[in-house]
Amino acid sequence: MAGAQIITGHVLCFTASPFEVPAAESARIEEAVLVRDGSVADVGTLDSLRQAAPEAEIHRFDKHLISPGFVDAHVHYPQTAIIASWGKRLLDWLEQYTFPEEMKFQDPDYARQIAVRYFDLTLANGTTTVASFCTSHPASVEAFFAEAQARGLRAVAGKTCMDCGAPKGLCDTAQSAYDDSKALIERWHGADRLSYAITPRFSPTSTPEQLEALGALWAAHPDCLMQTHLSEQKEEILKVVSLFPEARDYLDTYEAHGLLGARGLYGHAIHLEPRERARLAEVGASVIHCPTSNTFIGSGLFDLTARVADGIPVGLATDTGGGSSFSMLRTMAAAYEIAQLTGTALHPAQLWWLATAGSARALHMSDKIGTVAPGMEADLVAIELASTPGIAQRNARAENIWEAVFPTIMMGDDRAVKAVWVGGDKVLKLNAKGNG
Ligand code: GUN
Ligand code: ZN
Repeated sequence: MAGAQIITGHVLCFTASPFEVPAAESARIEEAVLVRDGSVADVGTLDSLRQAAPEAEIHRFDKHLISPGFVDAHVHYPQTAIIASWGKRLLDWLEQYTFPEEMKFQDPDYARQIAVRYFDLTLANGTTTVASFCTSHPASVEAFFAEAQARGLRAVAGKTCMDCGAPKGLCDTAQSAYDDSKALIERWHGADRLSYAITPRFSPTSTPEQLEALGALWAAHPDCLMQTHLSEQKEEILKVVSLFPEARDYLDTYEAHGLLGARGLYGHAIHLEPRERARLAEVGASVIHCPTSNTFIGSGLFDLTARVADGIPVGLATDTGGGSSFSMLRTMAAAYEIAQLTGTALHPAQLWWLATAGSARALHMSDKIGTVAPGMEADLVAIELASTPGIAQRNARAENIWEAVFPTIMMGDDRAVKAVWVGGDKVLKLNAKGNG
């Protein structure tokens, strides 16, 4: 582990949710952050931190935004190689592109190769924590966790469980899904910075028996997260209605089997009924907004402002590879554009908060990641706010920090990510200017 370090720049310190206080008042900008033993020791002026830690190595990222690493609350790392596959809506996209690719993960070597590629890509984009679906093969979970562990990452994943509605080579059973998931929990949940999410893919690919078995597994391991999909596309909802005629609505297919709870993460959740919204809010379950996916596969417009008003915690995610980007900057831009279409201009602070603290809250990790404050784990990124000529010329006109950040939100990509620290260790340095 690196010794004490001081990083200078515009250190972004959220002190409240910008959905709960006036957005511009939700964060302070500090001059520097002191990192020690993998955690944030303090924030403040460079002089004060130097006095506190004269031995610290200094990394100057002046004019850069020093932010918590991005937290991507819903991804499918096995879909890395099929991102940007053309021309299909959800159910056909799954059949044509996703299931054949996921079949390849029965080969542990292929799973390892894609896990390495996936983390290379996400770290280059400044993402330091993801919650990933794997495939139905336990080896795909092993590959993901082993790679995340080797890189010191805080990460969440689970074996995707499916016992119907998918090709035979991808299907497990109610019993094997239970047994394999349980063995993976015992092996990985709580190991270093890793945690397990029980992962039924979605109701169309699980029998009631499998949902029941996974509900029982969650009850036996209540500190695990549970991740799945909910009400992403209209055709999918019709399918759920026909497969589960007794259910009151889509959410009820989970609720009836013990798969609704505060530690539940429900991806997409675009087309919700009033009862579903009320229940999600009541239990404190999180919905995960995946804006590039929602436009790319034609799912619909998630009404973020309405869900926040409902009192439902919302996380933000790429949904790689239904989503069309590995970048949480690009994802913030898409969230902004969708919100515009639903009648709201999201403030840059709200977008950035969703990509960091908001997603960390959805993952129940707010006490560890997602903000820069003493005691938090030192997963940090240095973001250049003038990373391309187009961004630079707009940034030069900015009159305050959020106006300076917004062009990078709308036009930025991995070129803006100049350094990434994982648990206090610097893992990436791309063309940083004047840094040792
Ligand atoms: N619903 C069920 N599986 C998937 C998936 O892999 N991607 C997306 N976007 N939606 C899903
Ligand atoms: Zn998904």
